[in-house]
Amino acid sequence: MLVFSRQKSLNRGPCDLGEIIENATNLLRHRLKKGIEIELGLSPTTTIIMGDQGQMQQVFLNLGNNGLRAMEEKCGKLKITSERISLPSASFPSAHNLDAGDYVCVRVTDQGTGITPEVMQRIFDPFFSTREVGQGSGLGLSVVHGVIKNHGGMVRVESSPGHGTNFEILLPLIEPEPLKKSSGPPAPAENRGAVLLVDDEETVMGMLATMIKRLGFDVMAFNNPELALEEFNATPNLFGLALLDEIMPAMPGTELGKRLKKKRPEIPIIICSGYSADTEGKPGYVNVWLDKPVTLKDLQATLERFLARPSIQGEQTG
Ligand SMILES: Nc1ncnc2c1ncn2[C@@H]1O[C@H](COP(=O)(O)OP(=O)(O)OP(=O)(O)O)[C@@H](O)[C@H]1O
Ligand SMILES: [Mg+2]
Repeated sequence: MLVFSRQKSLNRGPCDLGEIIENATNLLRHRLKKGIEIELGLSPTTTIIMGDQGQMQQVFLNLGNNGLRAMEEKCGKLKITSERISLPSASFPSAHNLDAGDYVCVRVTDQGTGITPEVMQRIFDPFFSTREVGQGSGLGLSVVHGVIKNHGGMVRVESSPGHGTNFEILLPLIEPEPLKKSSGPPAPAENRGAVLLVDDEETVMGMLATMIKRLGFDVMAFNNPELALEEFNATPNLFGLALLDEIMPAMPGTELGKRLKKKRPEIPIIICSGYSADTEGKPGYVNVWLDKPVTLKDLQATLERFLARPSIQGEQTG
């Protein structure tokens, strides 16, 4: 098969590994035999590497072809998955030679013949092939190894003769996790959590809770910030937003907000304060400052900016 990369200088740029794998998979699908399928499970967020697109595609074609050929005698599935990982990681002890940082891990797994220990020792050698003369150059895996190494990555193989083989590739990513998954408040449409309301003055707490309910949102109210924090830490995903009074002797709202963010970085923090003139010392993790007393209009605008109303299904039927 065609494998050798003749060009010496690498033609590198940022490229999306997911796209490369999809392209390679489309090519592989053209030659699928009956009873054999390919399943893709790619990382839901982009995986951008600094690489040579052509060479990278060749890597996955070579691995995919080997997997498909290993299943020629029987039926089976070729699975290609990718996920983001951070090194160092206990799950990747063999990656200790790689620098710490964000990586993408791609696994190409087949249910084919597997590789015996004797063959395993030589699979990456150039021109080593167990195939009949003319059926293989023996260059596929040596190219895989060379390209991945040149891109700062690593290849690992596990095989169980008679059952299948799993090639695992690690490659360094050049961008952090895209915003949509990490920091920043979620879009309102996706955020159906309850409001965590904390105000040490019980009458104010009760009034705000009533307003929030009347606006159609779920609310869990506390007059004790420490209790609120405990509750939040126990079930952080229940909440879609925190509405916190600033002036509380046990713990200021901003301090509580900081601790909530630590547990769940994307939760919007709204602080109610009677001292809005003080623009200094307003921490960046606070999304909105509301003047006290809070009006229904301001409250509505703020909640609607971050929260979707919970579904009211079943409310009438009970
Ligand atoms: N997924 C796999 N399952 C079983 N054996 C494999 C697998 N991948 C590689 N091998 C073994 O490793 C050998 C070397 O693989 P490599 O891809 O380097 O060369 P090849 O497939 O024989 O030839 P070419 O890739 O040049 O067509 C193969 O001949 C085969 O014995
Ligand atoms: Mg091959």
